[in-house]
Amino acid sequence: MKLKIAVLPGDGIGPEVTEQAIKALNAIALEFNHQFSFKQADVGAIAIDKTGAPLPDVTLELCKSSDAILFGAIGDPKYDNAEGDVRPEQGLLKLRKELGLFANIRPVKAFEALLDFSPLKRHLIKGVDISIYRELTGGVYFGKKETAEDGSYASDLCEYSTSEIERISHLAFKAAMERRKKVTLIDKANVLDTSRLWRKTVTELAKSYPEVTLDFLYVDNAAMQMILNPKQFDVILTENMFGDIISDEASVIGGSIGLLPSASIGAKHALFEPIHGSYPQATGKGIANPIAAILSAAMLMEHFGLFEEAEMIKGAVEKSLKLGITTPDLGVRHERMTTSKVGDFIADFISNPSDSNHNFSNIHIGQSTII
Ligand code: IPM
Ligand code: MN
Repeated sequence: MKLKIAVLPGDGIGPEVTEQAIKALNAIALEFNHQFSFKQADVGAIAIDKTGAPLPDVTLELCKSSDAILFGAIGDPKYDNAEGDVRPEQGLLKLRKELGLFANIRPVKAFEALLDFSPLKRHLIKGVDISIYRELTGGVYFGKKETAEDGSYASDLCEYSTSEIERISHLAFKAAMERRKKVTLIDKANVLDTSRLWRKTVTELAKSYPEVTLDFLYVDNAAMQMILNPKQFDVILTENMFGDIISDEASVIGGSIGLLPSASIGAKHALFEPIHGSYPQATGKGIANPIAAILSAAMLMEHFGLFEEAEMIKGAVEKSLKLGITTPDLGVRHERMTTSKVGDFIADFISNPSDSNHNFSNIHIGQSTII
């Protein structure tokens, strides 16, 4: 298969982790005879520094003319208290809106090799397999915003239309049909009109999926249930802001936010990105976990129906976790591994999956990990 992939490394650790995802995709291309071409463009703080805009037109055009987008991370503390309206995050939000990426899918799994690493007890997380469907182009993120000139008042409006709710809900129910046939809608319907609209719309739509059980949870309760009994969840369906918060919380199950990938899907475009942020304190230190970015590349493969390829990437990731070839956020089990060494191992394992002799000293000199 030929794929034109736009690469937007972004800020902080974005470039380092994206590089590892590309290594994995190059190994896949070689193995399966695909032609993946990569073109890079700026987004976020780095784009503001160069052009004044967080999403330059050339970047948007590149994304529009590509088959898929591989995204790194966005954000820089120097803009945290910046005067004026230009912020790195606007680059990502504009990209999501302009490309119509309304569905953000975030799979959460407990990896066997990391069961004792999560702060949550093993028996609570063993077997957890959740797919979060987060609405991505509506809600309070994109409602009318206002700040009084004297700074004494601010407002963010939360808006949803039935069509916005329906399009992501269909995807969530279809996913549930292929899984354990349960959808949990997370909302705050005891307080918010928008949440009541979600409940009404989703209840109606659920009639077209009679095999799927639909459950409702208020978001405050859901936050607690995610820690108390995460195994109850199959597909989670929720609005933009609740999905943002719940998915960070859910990452604790895996043991590190550095493990969670995501796919943002629209009618025409698709973007793949780790759910973590730009982790500015870690930039350039080689300590950022590349696995979320690499698993995002696996989701990219799945999006194009390349399931064997995706399985191969996931298998290589699992192997690295099993062998403890991981960055320090997952504890140091052997010698300290860097972002790039983990990426090398995973790419090498994709190329030589059947070899079982792994020579750790070779990882350090950047050569094949296989004797
Ligand atoms: C995410 C991030 C973004 C969001 C930020 C960087 C705008 O936290 O993708 O979860 O809030 O959606
Ligand atoms: Mn987030």
